[in-house]
Amino acid sequence: MTPIINYAHRGASGYCPENTMIAFKKGLELGATGIETDVQRTKDGKLVLIHDESVERTTGQQGEIKDLTYDEISRLDAGSWFDSAFAGERIPLLDELLDWAAPTELILNLELKNNMEAYTGMEEQVIAAIQQRGLSARTIISSFNHYSLATCKQLAPDIRTGILYGDNLYHPWAYAQSVGAEALHPYHLFLTEEIVQQAAAHGVISNPFTINEPERMRELIQMGVAGIITDYPDRLAELLSSTVS
Ligand code: G3P
Ligand code: MG
Repeated sequence: MTPIINYAHRGASGYCPENTMIAFKKGLELGATGIETDVQRTKDGKLVLIHDESVERTTGQQGEIKDLTYDEISRLDAGSWFDSAFAGERIPLLDELLDWAAPTELILNLELKNNMEAYTGMEEQVIAAIQQRGLSARTIISSFNHYSLATCKQLAPDIRTGILYGDNLYHPWAYAQSVGAEALHPYHLFLTEEIVQQAAAHGVISNPFTINEPERMRELIQMGVAGIITDYPDRLAELLSSTVS
């Protein structure tokens, strides 16, 4: 059986400030086999890892990513809001994550945050960064912007894509296939065993988000999901090791 991928959501964001290098490293240390992260783009065209369109929540400063240069963004403290022990953590470049992850065996789930901001041409940039490092087979691109996923599939058919959604889609596997996607990335309450099984029967895998309770993780594992996205990869790692043994 294919092992279930344990995706650390924004890194091990239950323990570290989300989407920072220390959170990604902590994820690996805690047993994650995958990293989920959010990609946005600066005013000067650099791809950076941050969830919100604005820097306010995670740095305490004002400004939209699209209006700030990378030089400005690189000086912000993205750690103190979480805990003063993380003061000085920065908003990373996508390149930093990819360079660090390349020699590991981690699976990368890159979520393109181009639903609110179009970031025209972002797909080409992300795909180039993946291909330069030979990471196509270890990467899955997801987005709430399904037009963007269709673009990714046209640009790089060998890089897997997953549709993010938070609704009761009817036959989501059929819809995913219409976008060219290989995976469902639903908010976990919209998955049922029948959906997981039907999707799998059509060659579409399920990677729900964001599950932090071991009981719910257990239910999803029993349904047959391919991966679970969690803020606490240690909890899932423990569950998976006890399930296997
Ligand atoms: O990719 C799963 C999850 O991260 C999607 O929602 O808002 O946490 O990026 P969000
Ligand atoms: Mg995300």
